Amino acid sequence: MKRIALTGLIVAATCLAMPAWSAGDAATGQQKSGICTACHGADGNSAAPTFPKLAGLGEAYLVKQLHEFRRGETRKDPSMAPMVANLSDQDIADIAAFYASRERSFSVASEELVERGEAIYRGGISGSSVGACIGCHGPRGAGNPAAKFPAVSGQHAQYLAAQLMKFRSGERSNDPNRMMRNIANRMTDAEIQAVTSYMAGLY
Ligand code: HEC
Ligand code: HEC
Repeated sequence: MKRIALTGLIVAATCLAMPAWSAGDAATGQQKSGICTACHGADGNSAAPTFPKLAGLGEAYLVKQLHEFRRGETRKDPSMAPMVANLSDQDIADIAAFYASRERSFSVASEELVERGEAIYRGGISGSSVGACIGCHGPRGAGNPAAKFPAVSGQHAQYLAAQLMKFRSGERSNDPNRMMRNIANRMTDAEIQAVTSYMAGLY
């Protein structure tokens, strides 16, 4: 009796908390991700450094990015636009659940950039009031899934650097409160190269 009552309560609470579509299902998402594998790899670990690894990104972060690519305002990309145009909210939720469940592969940092990159990542750039990346992206680069701060460890340095340049130019403007634009605006190309190389090799 008690058990049944409790189950009823949980179901009711879940229904209330649920958005118009249901939470993502990773197995269904894998089936729907066929078209993505050409660029992002079968398990979300892309081979080419211009295509981001999706494995290990937080589910909520992935959902946010896919909705933004579909809207095409604050984040646009000619390769991604046709990929998301026909995805439903449920497709996005399922695909995000799939990639969030995969483990990210390793990358390596370039040796001569590690020292400078680590200093920026852990301590920021004092002269130009750039805050430390570690504060949001975490000591091991795992990000903060609940806050939608993306995991950066093991990501391709070339992709990460391209994103910082897009934040700097304002081409990418989907960062809440201009968090990333305010940082990238104050960074030189050399600082971007160093810190993204470090992130790629961070674990
Ligand atoms: C033709 C190649 C191509 C295909 C196919 C493709 N993508 Fe992408 N994807 C890209 C590129 C290039 C970017 C980087 C865009 C940018 O610079 O913002 C990207 C970025 C992303 C990002 C952002 C990752 C991050 O770290 O913020 C997500 C999420 C994503 N793609 C998901 C998908 C999904 C899901 C599919 C399949 C429905 C897909 N992509 C198919 C090329 C592709
Ligand atoms: C105050 C929190 C905060 C700090 C500090 C911060 N970031 Fe970010 N970063 C974010 C958020 C939030 C996003 C994702 C924005 C979005 O698309 O929703 C992001 C995204 C990124 C991306 C794009 C990742 C991807 O997968 O597309 C890069 C690269 C990045 N940050 C680099 C850095 C670097 C380098 C530093 C330090 C110099 C730094 N960040 C400091 C919050 C932060």
